[in-house]
Amino acid sequence: MIAQKTVQDYIRTIPDFPHEGIMFRDVTTLFQDPRGFRLAVDQLLSPFVGETIDAVAGLEARGFILGGAVAHQLSKGFVPVRKKGKLPAATIEQAYTLEYGEAVVEIHDDAVQPGDKVLIVDDLLATGGTAEAGIKLIERLGAEVIGCAFVIDLPDLGGRTKVEAMGVPVHAICVYE
Ligand code: PRP
Ligand code: ADE
Repeated sequence: MIAQKTVQDYIRTIPDFPHEGIMFRDVTTLFQDPRGFRLAVDQLLSPFVGETIDAVAGLEARGFILGGAVAHQLSKGFVPVRKKGKLPAATIEQAYTLEYGEAVVEIHDDAVQPGDKVLIVDDLLATGGTAEAGIKLIERLGAEVIGCAFVIDLPDLGGRTKVEAMGVPVHAICVYE
């Protein structure tokens, strides 16, 4: 019998991108494969089946691709957490640090309602700075983050510890030590 490919089998690694020393985990090869993409969306959601989810928030940019598909699967709305300066209406903003740089993200101030239960989706958890900023934005609007779902966790960079310390459960499909 031929073994079924796992989500990790669809992810490509590019050494030294965008900087020397970074092993870039490229999910475009996962997204472009119909079976791989569906497998990833199904596995992102699997621990949350049966939980109340009012909205799915995706973190720019790869979290939009996954989060949109997850929201569609749940028949729920999708909320973008965007890099500063992209959202057209009134926003709140949050600064954060990345594995390689600094940035500010924003959310529309009417994107979620107080008491809403929100699932955050992104492709990859590294230092956890992006996820932490997304959680803070959603919590500042009075909603609750019921979990963060990632395709990839890079545990050496400490993101899971950071997010779990905020009381938010972390789910990742693949771990790259
Ligand atoms: C990447 C990745 C996550 C974030 C993870 O996005 O898609 O969103 O970094 O890193 P962290 O856990 O250290 O915060 P990036 O900021 O490179 O933006 P992009 O998706 O727009 O390329
Ligand atoms: N974002 C932050 N670190 C990354 C990595 N190693 N691969 C892909 N995306 C990333």
